[in-house]
Amino acid sequence: MQRIRLAIYYRWRPSGSTYSSVLALIFPATDESIHRAAAALAAGHLVGLPTETVYGVAANAWDAVAVQRIFAAKSRPATNPLIVHVAHIDRLADAIKMPPEPNVQSQLDVIADWWPGPLTVVCPRSHRIPAEVTAGQATVAVRIPSHPVALALLEACDFPLAAPSANRSKYVSPTLAKHLCGPHGIAEHLAMILDGGPCQWGVESTIIQLGGPVPHLLRPGAISLAELADRFGVAPESMLSAGRPVQDHANFSAHDDEAAEYLAPGMMRQHYSPTTTLRLLAPDSQSISQAVGAQRLGRIAFKPISAGEASRYVVVRVLSTHGDLHEVAHELFAALRELDESGLDVIECDTCEPVELGLAIMDRLHRAASKM
Ligand code: TXA
Ligand code: MG
Repeated sequence: MQRIRLAIYYRWRPSGSTYSSVLALIFPATDESIHRAAAALAAGHLVGLPTETVYGVAANAWDAVAVQRIFAAKSRPATNPLIVHVAHIDRLADAIKMPPEPNVQSQLDVIADWWPGPLTVVCPRSHRIPAEVTAGQATVAVRIPSHPVALALLEACDFPLAAPSANRSKYVSPTLAKHLCGPHGIAEHLAMILDGGPCQWGVESTIIQLGGPVPHLLRPGAISLAELADRFGVAPESMLSAGRPVQDHANFSAHDDEAAEYLAPGMMRQHYSPTTTLRLLAPDSQSISQAVGAQRLGRIAFKPISAGEASRYVVVRVLSTHGDLHEVAHELFAALRELDESGLDVIECDTCEPVELGLAIMDRLHRAASKM
């Protein structure tokens, strides 16, 4: 019965890729739509799903063919591994090697109460995870998301979900369901999109590699380096590559990866980039740029700016009334997308100190401003 309903559903699916037709793929998250999404995933299709960080594009992580569809949909290099999502700590065995090595287990015990939540760990993989997910590596990245729709979908599946952010490779991550349908969307590759509203954090999960004497920070994110270092009882610097001060990690992409395509797998120098040139402004400085000729400037401000300053811009987006970095992170990707579609020549964007959530924000902004 379920199979017949799905077959009808796919036949009715809009085949064109116009904005209005792909918008029809967005379903409010209900018990029925979540079960329909689980059935689509079981049949090897891709589903757009909300998480508390950003929207993801999910496939059955045990199905190598379905996983390859993710790489095709995103134009993602096969060398860039995916994050696997599980519903509960008891289902970690669906993704990671069991039993874990003692030092991996003790580090898992330290972070366990951050789950469900925006923390991803990298550790040895289960043999059930195909090489396509991990880009052939012996390790897998895994997390338990806290968004209720993501959790409900995971509960409805008897397999884990591989789910990278649902943007085309290198473009800005989506934080609203409609972002999956825009000109930079991947909706034509999806069976459906579950709408769970705006993502709570707006930046991706923090990624740490387990197993060493101290866990290693691979990507700054919603959980701060300071919180992690405090929890593990170590200095923040000890969780970074040897010999580099914390501030340098505001630009994870800025060091010696000239020759290599990746810093770590997937840590691409250019990422999260709007098509429009992005110019970063020094913290708390006013823009000193002058529009050249008929240049159209846009501005993303972390807090209100004066009317005089605003007059230099065609469009201004203020992300927070008082520079609150949670509000900034929550709005940032949507603002980058919106201004990218405003026909501007340059987007100027505020910056912040690379501490706490500011480290993740500045990491994303440096990548977004980087043109290869
Ligand atoms: O918040 C998030 O983490 C979102 C939501 C959808 O869960 N997902 C996300 O996935 O940001 P993605 O694919 O956009 O970023 C995953 C990052 C990549 O930089 C990838 O290289 C890294 O995780 N990664 C995955 N597996 C890894 C591994 N085994 N070792 C090192 N890095 C890994
Ligand atoms: Mg991504």
